[in-house]
Amino acid sequence: MPSAAIAASVLNADFGRLAEQVAEVEAAGVDSIHVDVMDGHFVPNISLGFGIIEAIRRSTRLPIDLHLMIDQPERYLERFVATGANLVTVHWEAARHLHRALTELRTLGAQAGLALAPATPLTMVEEVLANLDLLLVMTINPGFGGQALIPTTVDKVRRARTLLDSQRSAATLQVDGGVKSHNAAALTRAGATCLVVGTGIFEAPGGIQTGVMELRRAIEGA
Ligand code: DX5
Ligand code: ZN
Repeated sequence: MPSAAIAASVLNADFGRLAEQVAEVEAAGVDSIHVDVMDGHFVPNISLGFGIIEAIRRSTRLPIDLHLMIDQPERYLERFVATGANLVTVHWEAARHLHRALTELRTLGAQAGLALAPATPLTMVEEVLANLDLLLVMTINPGFGGQALIPTTVDKVRRARTLLDSQRSAATLQVDGGVKSHNAAALTRAGATCLVVGTGIFEAPGGIQTGVMELRRAIEGA
């Protein structure tokens, strides 16, 4: 039976009570904390930086995965790993020498992730599959929480699963953007093994705990 972990994206959390909100999702049973870093260049939004990531690190025991939506992420990998993040994901569209960036992450002691925006073909990852601990198939255009999942990306997830399996890759297949309890089962069946959820948790109509419970139920029913 397929299954998937849940990563809570704090982008749409209440930043005035961030530590509390992180504690709340941890208590609700999510598997990791997903932190979105945006630079106003690679994406048309600016989010947060090192100090906030360090504060999140102090407030949870859960693994932290950083989703870097910044141009030339290779300039800052050392500093991001130094925040205590467990996994760092860079965008294919933003890094010039991906093999170097991914290799450096592992050398620094972090897991290495690679993200593809919706328009980027899957074939672009073939040469670096062995260097990946996580492949992130974006299910929205990166930049903002609260967008609707782009329907064609579900098939891209399915093809990514086939690609990873054909190369015997054990990398996590992560999806991010517009993930809600109504599409969590379809994404899990398509082969995703980690669902990033932002507004679907932090703005869940019944509250955080109910939001996580509904996601978990949907995943179990996949
Ligand atoms: C957007 C970010 C996401 C965002 C997802 O670029 O990468 O992690 O927080 O938010 P939802 O789940 O609301 O689409
Ligand atoms: Zn993200």
